[in-house]
Amino acid sequence: ELGYFTYDPGFMSTASCSSEITYLDGDAGTLLYRGYPIEQLAEHSSFLEVCYLLLNKTLPTKQELADFEYMISRHTMLHDQVQYFFRGFRRDAHPMATVVGVVGALSAFYHDDMNIHDPEQRKRSAHRLIAKMPTIAAWSYRYSVGLPFVYPRNDLSYAEDFLHLMFSVPTEPYTPDPLHVKALEVIMILHADHEQNASTSTVRLAGSSEANPFAAVAAGIASLWGPAHGGANEAVINMLRDIEKSGLPLSHWVDRAKDKNDRFRLMGFGHRVYKNYDPRAKIIRELANDILDRLPANDPNQKLFAIARELEQVALNDEYFKARNLYPNVDFYSGVIFLSMGIPVSMFTVMFALARTIGWISQWDEMMGDEESRIGRPRQLYMGAESRDYVPVNER
Ligand code: SDX
Repeated sequence: ELGYFTYDPGFMSTASCSSEITYLDGDAGTLLYRGYPIEQLAEHSSFLEVCYLLLNKTLPTKQELADFEYMISRHTMLHDQVQYFFRGFRRDAHPMATVVGVVGALSAFYHDDMNIHDPEQRKRSAHRLIAKMPTIAAWSYRYSVGLPFVYPRNDLSYAEDFLHLMFSVPTEPYTPDPLHVKALEVIMILHADHEQNASTSTVRLAGSSEANPFAAVAAGIASLWGPAHGGANEAVINMLRDIEKSGLPLSHWVDRAKDKNDRFRLMGFGHRVYKNYDPRAKIIRELANDILDRLPANDPNQKLFAIARELEQVALNDEYFKARNLYPNVDFYSGVIFLSMGIPVSMFTVMFALARTIGWISQWDEMMGDEESRIGRPRQLYMGAESRDYVPVNER
């Protein structure tokens, strides 16, 4: 036992820990949040109800949900000084750079109310992060395109308010598209938590040193940014655009993905744990097909979407991919949906961070509430030089 993390050489560099939040069976393709199947939550629940579930262990009663929604809506605004943090960035900064900076900076605004040993203050930090992420995410987009900041609206649902924060303009009323609202709710539920993935393990490790929750979540956002993890949804669209521009047949790209000497990989395929179909991908695939089937024939992304559908079929029937259980993962489809909703590619990983914040902060709260919790200290397999004596420079 190495503190909170148990080092298991069988897993090489993976540190593991115990949790009651998410159950994942990669071979069976099973995903449960607090015991509830992801398929049932995606069909019947709302994102804020799932936030309540992950944070409080049980589904809320009607009154508990209403109280939770009201309380979250009381935290959606940012301290007025935070806007100047945004204004310090270049307009063309990647929104993930802005978001990781602003979330970490929240530590400067709540330093008198983020005692990690006080359950009530831990819960308030969680509520602040859930509530403020849509505002931070949307403002990072608006700042990058020169739109003025707009304030959250407490009369809208969480998903409606995010779309309003992103796309409304002060000069006219804004009504979000109900299909987009439903799609966003489902995508956020599917991305809410995923056991000990790279970014969640980063949050746990950062939090295990008793760093404050905003700093720990900022570390998780930084880890999520990588194209092998949350950055994959952005990398999928960039890959599809490269394929479209190249005019080369899909077989050329699939062959490159198989070539050991070529670093090219099909983004959106494969998974560290799922060696069966990602259950989230099954759900989001239907959503993507629903939305794509409704798109007008002259939609500028129709060609790109056709390539995505063809690539999915080619990979699903290719021996190399089948032999390695490389199926489309959740990131293969989410970007297609975001694009059809008018969300720019640069914002895709921010969308992932927006949804995963509840998973990160629930796991952080679980860890900090555990009396046995100690600083994480994964070990290594030392592969370096044997002990040897120093040689003065003029003798080398
Ligand atoms: C997420 O951990 C989580 O839970 C993550 C996540 C979450 O919700 O937090 O689910 C979100 O990160 C999903 C994954 C998004 N990433 C991508 O789509 C990037 C493309 N995928 C690959 O980089 C890769 O599949 C990984 C990183 C996702 C998984 O890597 P693994 O499990 O370490 O697989 P591997 O590298 O051991 O590959 C096994 C074989 C290798 O070939 P061989 O050496 O056996 O001959 O499959 C090949 C790999 O070369 N391979 C691929 C491939 N992914 C693996 N070949 C072509 N294209 C790919 N995408």
